[in-house]
Amino acid sequence: MAEFYSVLLTTVWLPLVLASYYFHEPSRIILKPDPLKDHDTFGFSMGYQDGNASLIVGAPQSNLIGKVFQCDLEDILKNRAEFCNDVNIDVDNLAPYNRNYTPNLKFNLGASIAVTSDYFFTCAPLWTTIPINNPSKNFSYGTCFTYNGTAQRYSGLIENHQLNPDSVHPFNIMFGGTGWRTLIDEVNEMLLVAKVALVGDVVYMNSSNPLEKVRSLVAKSKDTNTDLHREYLKNYRLFGNSIVAGNFFDNGMVYYAVSAITESMEGIVHFLKARFSKSEKNTKKIYMQKASSRSGVARSKKKYIKITDNTVGSMFGAAMAAADLNNDGVSELLVGAPAQDGQESGSETGAIHIYLGGDISSINENYRHREIVSSKDSSRFGSAIAATDVDADDLPEIFVSAPYEDDGVGAVYILSGYEINKTLINGEKYKRIDLHKLRMIQTISMKEFKTFGYSLQKIPDSNDNGCDELAIGAPGSNHIVLMKCVSAVNITVSANLVGAKIVQEQDSNFTVKVCVSVKHLKGKNFSIELKASNEIIGTGAMIEVPQTNFQWTITGNTKEEIRCEDVVVRLNDNEPGEYSFSTKVEMDEEKIKKSDNFNESWVMVSPQSLMDFNFEVSRHCTGRDCDPNLNVTIEWTVSDYYQLGTSDTLSPVLQVFNSGNSSFESCVLVHVSGAPVSQIGCGDKSDGYKCYMPRPLRRNAMHTIPIVFNVSQPTNQQKELRIQVSLFEFCNQPNVKEFEFVLPYKVDVDKIVLKSSGHGQTISDVEIKDVREESINDAHEYLIVNEGPVTWNDINLMIAIEKRPFIQTYRVSTYGCKDISNDQSALFECSLNLRPHAIVKVIATSVIQKSKIVENLKDGKLQVASHLTLSLDHNNTVVRKTNLTTFIIWQKELSLAQNKQLIIFLAVLGALVALALVIFILYKMEFFKRKEKTRLDALKKEHIRRKSIKRTMSEDANEEDLDMEVEDDSPFEIVDMSDPVLQQESKL
Ligand SMILES: *[C@@H]1O[C@H](CO)[C@@H](O)[C@H](O)[C@H]1NC(C)=O
Ligand SMILES: *[C@@H]1O[C@H](CO)[C@@H](O)[C@H](O)[C@H]1NC(C)=O
Repeated sequence: MAEFYSVLLTTVWLPLVLASYYFHEPSRIILKPDPLKDHDTFGFSMGYQDGNASLIVGAPQSNLIGKVFQCDLEDILKNRAEFCNDVNIDVDNLAPYNRNYTPNLKFNLGASIAVTSDYFFTCAPLWTTIPINNPSKNFSYGTCFTYNGTAQRYSGLIENHQLNPDSVHPFNIMFGGTGWRTLIDEVNEMLLVAKVALVGDVVYMNSSNPLEKVRSLVAKSKDTNTDLHREYLKNYRLFGNSIVAGNFFDNGMVYYAVSAITESMEGIVHFLKARFSKSEKNTKKIYMQKASSRSGVARSKKKYIKITDNTVGSMFGAAMAAADLNNDGVSELLVGAPAQDGQESGSETGAIHIYLGGDISSINENYRHREIVSSKDSSRFGSAIAATDVDADDLPEIFVSAPYEDDGVGAVYILSGYEINKTLINGEKYKRIDLHKLRMIQTISMKEFKTFGYSLQKIPDSNDNGCDELAIGAPGSNHIVLMKCVSAVNITVSANLVGAKIVQEQDSNFTVKVCVSVKHLKGKNFSIELKASNEIIGTGAMIEVPQTNFQWTITGNTKEEIRCEDVVVRLNDNEPGEYSFSTKVEMDEEKIKKSDNFNESWVMVSPQSLMDFNFEVSRHCTGRDCDPNLNVTIEWTVSDYYQLGTSDTLSPVLQVFNSGNSSFESCVLVHVSGAPVSQIGCGDKSDGYKCYMPRPLRRNAMHTIPIVFNVSQPTNQQKELRIQVSLFEFCNQPNVKEFEFVLPYKVDVDKIVLKSSGHGQTISDVEIKDVREESINDAHEYLIVNEGPVTWNDINLMIAIEKRPFIQTYRVSTYGCKDISNDQSALFECSLNLRPHAIVKVIATSVIQKSKIVENLKDGKLQVASHLTLSLDHNNTVVRKTNLTTFIIWQKELSLAQNKQLIIFLAVLGALVALALVIFILYKMEFFKRKEKTRLDALKKEHIRRKSIKRTMSEDANEEDLDMEVEDDSPFEIVDMSDPVLQQESKL
């Protein structure tokens, strides 16, 4: 039982883009006979004559004799001729006939056509005549003619018989059929004519001299072989039903495969060969190929080499062709069986059988047998077979017709040699394939015709585009369709990485060079439009849109044409990865298929082409690049320095950047000084803040660590913010990289303002003489105002009062001062803390001895001078200094009692001062109610102290001046630094 082979066709080894178009249908040319000439079955047979580029066409049913037409293809292709002309073969004169008994018998002239470059040979197989030796009978012997401008009758079997009736076996001559099939073997220069009759014969002659001596396979001759042949062939019918020449066996010789049917209607094929006769030197004779005598099988049965098909009534052998389907130098034999029934259903669906060429003795073995079957009912697939390589791959395409398909419309199938070789030919088993499961197939069928494909004839390349044209006969509608072939180019697509053949993790892209090479295997001009689409598969990789597709129009001729384009693949990450790049090239076949006009430069894609290409790209690190490479930077939110007091927080961001391979185990340890941390996203450890990096910290990734510092209580002693970072690429290993970031602080010294006030006073004789007080005071008052937000600690303060002989004592109101007086000055050095928005008042008091006033007067006055110096930073680079000089003027005048006006004035003044004091106290108490209790207490004390200070001042000390400087609603808080308790507080 035969193994069914359809399973193989479902596999995917066939290339994605299949050339399945071989002949251009829209530009077909219809050949027809001159309509004025009587004709019928035009296209029943065909032959191509090279010398004059004409197609010789038989129309055997034209009138009672039959006709042959000549189509001048050159003229027809160039639109110079419309019709084929009939060839004048004057049968009446060349071969007189007798119609007495069969008046309506059609002689079928043109039933077969064989062509050489010098002449064509055509036969009328039912031509009828009366044998000379038997005038009472007429026989349809058939006869043939040569034509090379004039027609001549060949001197064939009938002639031999008429002249020498004994030479022919009587059985052999009874029924006609000479020339239903003819064959020219150019290698051996033989012309074979089959006499397809009840008992057949093959007659043959030298093809270069067809009118001379004719020999017969079976007719009596000196060669005893003919008798053997005759005896043997008696068992077969329709011997010569078709004949085809080919080198079917691996001995380099040409054989003629001749089909017949057995008495039981089975198909059979014998092989004939031509060789020089032993008896008649220099004469080539044709013998039937005998089986080797070594085969040991009874010779009577296995006498001759033959192929048998045991299907009854399949018309096995109705058509045959030879073609080397696997390009091994040996022809395969293709045998049509158009009346073979379908496998499951259908009658006369048809089939072709393929017998693999090779060893002669096993030609009929099952493993050499292949089969292509149709499943279309009554289509008679296999009625005509031809083969030629269209797509230039050296594997011939097979043309098979099914002339009765579709209710007699007919169809021609063009089977890809590539696909047939791939699916069917190879292997050691019998295989059968369903025609309709072939994928690389072109089916041509034209509804306007009848029996389209009844005959097939390849026409040598008429337009020099590298492949043969095809003529398809439709004798049922008296037409031949000529189709131009579309040749093929071999296309190879490739894609490669450009430059260094490596993609690294830090690369942001790589470039692929996509190339296409196009070559016409027959070296012809071509032009092809190709579209390439590129694709990358892999995480984070992409091709930007314009580069995903290319359009190429490539023209060329003999040499290989190469076009390349660069495709940039963008990589969106820095990870190791595997990518798959693929390119697929396609051609737009539809454009060709739809165009009405034929263009010689058109090509299809040969099936051997590689239309897609795929390669893997591996992206990884190399060498030191495989290590992580971390670095720490900082982003301050401020510029080069920080102005203390401008904000409550400082929020720098630490940035850990990895420019190396992914890091899985890194961490940092952060130490800070210069401000307390109020927020950091890291673990607090005794020795710093430990922050683990994300796992992994990928290449070119950055991890940020925001830190918030509390700088809401700045002091002038803060110099800088310092952040130290220890970076561990592996947390558990000692290897460490150190980083240090410093932000200097600045403090605005201008916010410390120094003010001074002092008042001269007038002293009269009366006062000097008043013995109740020995001295008077002269007060110099300094205000140190902190207008800014920064707490100033340890401000160095120096108060100097110039020494005078009339000054008894020098005093400074501030606590904690060192007296470092010298000869010139009473000098006090103090340390001062000044909170934001605080005022410190320092009073330098000179106690003047009344008794010494007069003697020290200069120009009637005494001069008291002091100055205060503040050093606002540790290096004394910023120094504030202010001087104050007051005068005491002596007034030698009326005594107080004598001056009533003065008394009144003083009294009024005293009352006003007292009143102001009371209002001030009341007001201040009111104001302090709003403050915290501690403050209130402190300031109450201060008030008391202030009074005590005032007591030390001269009676007309300018309370008003002071109070005006320190406004009631001023934000300043007056701090008297003479209080040790407060001093302690402000230092905190
Ligand atoms: C062509 O036919 C003529 C007779 O008409 C004959 O003499 C001549 O040899 C033939 N030529 C060829 C090439 O067969
Ligand atoms: C025919 O097909 C076989 C199997 O696929 C392959 O090995 C061989 O190369 C083909 N022959 C030609 C000429 O392509």
